[in-house]
Amino acid sequence: PASAARDADGRLQLGGVDVRTLQERFGTPLYVVDEDDARARARTLREAFEREAAARGTSVAVYYAGKAFLSVEVARWMTAEGLRIDICSGGELAVALAAGTDPAQLGFHGNNKSVAEIERAVGVGIGAIVLDSLTEIDRVAAAAERAGRVQSVRLRVNSGVHAHTHEYLATAHEDQKFGLPLEDAADAVARIRSHASLDFLGLHCHIGSQIFGSDGFAESAARLLAVHARLLEGGPVPELNLGGGFGIAYTSADDPTPIERLAADILAGVQAAADLHGVRIPKLAFEPGRAIIGGAGITLYEVGTIKDVVVAWNDEGETAVRRYVSVDGGMSDNARPSLYGADYTVRIADRVSDASPALVRIAGKHCESGDIVVNADYLPADVRDGDLLVVPATGAYCWSLASNYNYLGRPAVVAVSGGAARVIVRGETEHDLLSRDAGLDTE
Ligand code: LLP
Repeated sequence: PASAARDADGRLQLGGVDVRTLQERFGTPLYVVDEDDARARARTLREAFEREAAARGTSVAVYYAGKAFLSVEVARWMTAEGLRIDICSGGELAVALAAGTDPAQLGFHGNNKSVAEIERAVGVGIGAIVLDSLTEIDRVAAAAERAGRVQSVRLRVNSGVHAHTHEYLATAHEDQKFGLPLEDAADAVARIRSHASLDFLGLHCHIGSQIFGSDGFAESAARLLAVHARLLEGGPVPELNLGGGFGIAYTSADDPTPIERLAADILAGVQAAADLHGVRIPKLAFEPGRAIIGGAGITLYEVGTIKDVVVAWNDEGETAVRRYVSVDGGMSDNARPSLYGADYTVRIADRVSDASPALVRIAGKHCESGDIVVNADYLPADVRDGDLLVVPATGAYCWSLASNYNYLGRPAVVAVSGGAARVIVRGETEHDLLSRDAGLDTE
């Protein structure tokens, strides 16, 4: 996070709060979010896209993708920074509403929203529902009709562009569950327009996550605008929502395009695509999650056991020692390494050491050998039990993907700012874990 700094004793400070203080007050594992940093990233991103859009005579709406990490407090930060919020379940809707978010500022995603979720969203006056299937067009139309409302909707299509970090792949057909094939868009839009209870805002497309460059977005826009041009029929230019997916650096191997640059490049790409198809550049929308909250969060762990394991190093039969440093959390608070093979880095948070670097693997405490937090990084060779470790860039898709595997309670989330720390999501206690066990009800 932006505020991370070491004090004279080499102890990490986050938002002006000492990590040992955080540990003493809240325990470990602990998620820590730098509030000012998260808000600055949200603001910078929104302003960059607004600036680029205005320069091209259009406007842009930026939604924060709540799936990355949503809590009442985070929803309020995003609203205060002028972002809308993208939700994808009744639960996320409930959090956004509990935060007092204006329902008109919400967008609702998902490939299988229940009728009850749709009814609730329509009933509270949600800003937009992203329709993901033909079934859903009729479901949302019927719900809006029953509620006596006209519901604004977008249609999610597949542009055939798949982006992963700096490369993208463009295909004609996609074998995946989200959205409709682009060639079916015209029929689907006609179906939307046939319902008096639906107001069609435009197409939506999300090409992937952890994307470093602008090319995939530009290619996707080009493909969508070709269809937009056909959908026009003299009517107003529909909006174009290009989804989220802006990448962040997890390790020094990651080199994402800075957000101002990315915004400029994407807008230039969309402009070029609009020119190509002879349409005015449409109103735009984006829905980043990771780029806003990912780098603003870290996880603190305490070191427990340490084990040196002799491993085969190469085909010549040479061996080396791999040092397993086990911490008090693991795949239950960060599933990304075990789910996606995601890489992270690690540092000792509460001291500096001039011991030589040792190659380590940070393991969790779960009963599973794939329970790895950091696959490979270096720590001072004098790393010992009781050390406090920090794993950066855990703000997105860590708490939100957390589980209770092995009956570990989900850690608390603490926000730091201006030298103060406060819990924004309480950690789960043993009582929380037992309270839903119906076996106790008969006693
Ligand atoms: N919009 C839609 C429709 C999405 O499906 C997603 C992410 C986003 C926006 C936000 O993407 P972001 O800007 O955060 O990359 N659990 C995975 C990531 C899953 C992303 C799912 N959709 C991970 O931890 O890498």
